[in-house]
Amino acid sequence: MRLTVIGTGYVGAVHAACMAETGHEVLGVDVDEERIAALAAGRPPFHEPGLSAMLQRTVATGRLRFTTSMAEAARFAGTHFVCVGTPQRPESGAADLRHVEAAVDALAPGLRSAGHDGALVVGKSTVPVGTADRLAARLCDSGADVAWNPEFLREGSAVQDTLRPERIVAGVRSAQAEARLRAVYAPLVAAGAPFIATDTVTAELVKVASNSFLATKISFINAMAEICDVTGADVLTLAAAMGADSRIGPNFLTPGLGFGGSCLPKDIRAFAARAEEIGRGESVAFLRQVDEINTRQRRRTIALAERFVGGSFAGRSVAVLGAAFKPGSDDVRDSPALAVAETVRRRGARVRVHDPEAVDNARAAFPDLQYALDVTKACEQADVVLHLTEWPQYQELDPAALAAVVRTPVMVDARNTLDARAWHSAGWRLSAPGRPRLG
Ligand code: NAD
Ligand code: UGA
Repeated sequence: MRLTVIGTGYVGAVHAACMAETGHEVLGVDVDEERIAALAAGRPPFHEPGLSAMLQRTVATGRLRFTTSMAEAARFAGTHFVCVGTPQRPESGAADLRHVEAAVDALAPGLRSAGHDGALVVGKSTVPVGTADRLAARLCDSGADVAWNPEFLREGSAVQDTLRPERIVAGVRSAQAEARLRAVYAPLVAAGAPFIATDTVTAELVKVASNSFLATKISFINAMAEICDVTGADVLTLAAAMGADSRIGPNFLTPGLGFGGSCLPKDIRAFAARAEEIGRGESVAFLRQVDEINTRQRRRTIALAERFVGGSFAGRSVAVLGAAFKPGSDDVRDSPALAVAETVRRRGARVRVHDPEAVDNARAAFPDLQYALDVTKACEQADVVLHLTEWPQYQELDPAALAAVVRTPVMVDARNTLDARAWHSAGWRLSAPGRPRLG
């Protein structure tokens, strides 16, 4: 089949490459000319495991091409996936739909004249419930139908998540739209992916409800870490014991600095704002608490580090391990690690940040922080080390070797993934949220 993918960011670039990989002819479209040129040359604009090789492979076959022309997109195919960003409106927390509307408005004029057998615009962006209906009204003159097919990929495992999804949700307004989406996803369904067909409002809601649930799970365990800090209980044992109950499950129960990134924080705020608009604000009022518990973890981490350096950051040297919002990604959008690093810097510390992949993006966003290309350089003469993004390589560090380069062997393991006993045995004082302090 022929498809277009409009918006070639994290979601769109991966979707376009994976759809071409499964055999479709795909045209990726973006307003960003530099991005389109890089993608056309097989270069992804961000770090995502497996994407670079897949892009090069599919571009070389000719099944994947890129353009900035929306008129070309309308002519090329009858099925158009919309993957543009839906950022947070700063004043209200609601979703800003201007990119979705601009994309659809730019596509619409070409659709009627394109002569495809009924164009279908398929939203993948995360949107407030009711958006597909509004867009259908907007597209009325073009004769196009609208479907919603939310995306559940995680950065760092986006390619695998797209090729082996745990579910495909297709929100449709007609049998023809469902048949079209079943044809698009036939290779993935044949490989075992469940296909859930529903109406568009349910599909939109599945997405925001899923992200809200994941965010709630993380804030729940972080709230328990706060209780553990006061009672002396161990949050890691608590999480493991809770997670052993198959009704609860172990995933998304890692306590620590909390969630960041371009999605969970903005999605819970947008859901809360949309619920207010439809008169059901009280139904999801708990999401405000989830958000507050989450941002409180940043303040708790800073307070802990400040105590470790004697009550003031002024003139202190602080090493930060991790800048990306999660391991496996170079995305620093709403990164908890960088939010902590920048606050510590503003309070007078000299902050040196290490990250295996995200230093360029971090430097662009926070130019006043210092950056080091290896962990040893970041830690030289540090008064305290803050472990803020749980890259696997940080778990392999040699605590004894690092103790020799810092000024004071003091570690805040804000991601709760270091081997506390090994660090303690090597002479470190180590503190992690919700865990009995060693040293
Ligand atoms: P992104 O910011 O990485 O990419 C968006 C792309 O859309 C950019 O390349 C931008 O230039 C392009 N764009 C903007 N306006 C355009 C227009 N009018 N026409 C064509 N292109 C346009 O965003 P993302 O992280 O890929 O997220 C996209 C959507 O998917 C959001 O709604 C997000 O909430 C959702 N989502 C993201 C993820 C994720 O892990 N990043 C996962 C699931 C869902
Ligand atoms: C998340 C969802 O997991 C995806 O299903 C969804 O498609 C995506 O948002 C989206 O809508 O954009 P992602 O943001 O890539 O994916 O990353 P996650 O793995 O969910 O991690 C989010 C944040 O939560 C990270 O900062 C991570 O460090 C934190 N986290 C995660 C915890 O603090 N504890 C945990 O137990 C798990």
